[in-house]
Amino acid sequence: MGEHSDREPDEVRGPDSALNPGRPRLAGKVVVVTGAGSGQGAAEARALAAEGAQVIGTDIKPVEGSDGVEGLEADVSSADDWRRVAAHVEKRFGRLDGLINNGAVGSRSLLADVGPAEWNQVLAVNLTGPMLAITTLLPLMPAGASIVNVCSTASLVPHFKAAYTVSKWGLRGLSHLAAMELGARGIRVNAVHPGFVETPIIDKLGRDFADGHRSITPLNRLGKPLDLAGLMIFLMSDESAYVNGADLVVDGGFSRTAAGFHQAMIAAGGNR
Ligand SMILES: NC(=O)c1ccc[n+]([C@@H]2O[C@H](COP(=O)([O-])OP(=O)(O)OC[C@H]3O[C@@H](n4cnc5c(N)ncnc54)[C@H](O)[C@@H]3O)[C@@H](O)[C@H]2O)c1
Repeated sequence: MGEHSDREPDEVRGPDSALNPGRPRLAGKVVVVTGAGSGQGAAEARALAAEGAQVIGTDIKPVEGSDGVEGLEADVSSADDWRRVAAHVEKRFGRLDGLINNGAVGSRSLLADVGPAEWNQVLAVNLTGPMLAITTLLPLMPAGASIVNVCSTASLVPHFKAAYTVSKWGLRGLSHLAAMELGARGIRVNAVHPGFVETPIIDKLGRDFADGHRSITPLNRLGKPLDLAGLMIFLMSDESAYVNGADLVVDGGFSRTAAGFHQAMIAAGGNR
């Protein structure tokens, strides 16, 4: 095993909001959220800031700045861009307490149709991106820092979008191994698996695909970006100080009923 933190949990904790009711749960924390220009990332950036975090929201498109949210244009698949983000965070804050690897792209092709261009682009953004983020920002992260990788129910159940599915299974694997390796430094890494959430990504994945999901989701609705935000606040806060290496599913129960769904979608022609 690698080096273990010799600091006790109480030492690596900041102010614990569970023990300090009334205090913002993320007061004083600096958090990077990728893909903050849209959908879940934008909602999460605002929610984290409302709990007192200083958020750096990155995206390839402009991120709307607001109280506590600072936008930075950066491509998650670019090592140069990550070096620029790290330099910015170091200069502004001197450290980083949280990282949410949320930015990603969807894909449409079945395995038989996926070509290397689509495959490589999706893996570069969805899998290499989070690896670059973690490895570049790690030197700024003290014991007690928290990393969340946004995967998908596509990394839990059979799913027919080839490149997207493989990228998210890979990210789930990265989360588990990072939880072991970085846990030894007191840094927590968890995987969050959203079900179908109403964001612009639906346009890329297909409306009939979304409707199919809703129809077999026990809560009988799709998710909303704010359905994820509360969990992100918890995972970025010291309330989750002993949560590491977990798979946290936020899907209205979809993955409990999903067996056969994707096969039925393929049989019906998918959404091509
Ligand atoms: N919406 C869903 O149904 C759903 C389901 C499961 C998982 N997810 C995951 O949730 C996360 C958020 O997705 P969303 O639903 O908010 O979709 P979204 O399309 O609204 O947001 C994704 C964001 O990532 C950004 N992005 C894309 N490529 C990038 C790059 N190279 N560098 C930086 N940013 C980039 C986009 O510009 C966009 O702002 C993604 O990881 C997605 O795979 C979404």
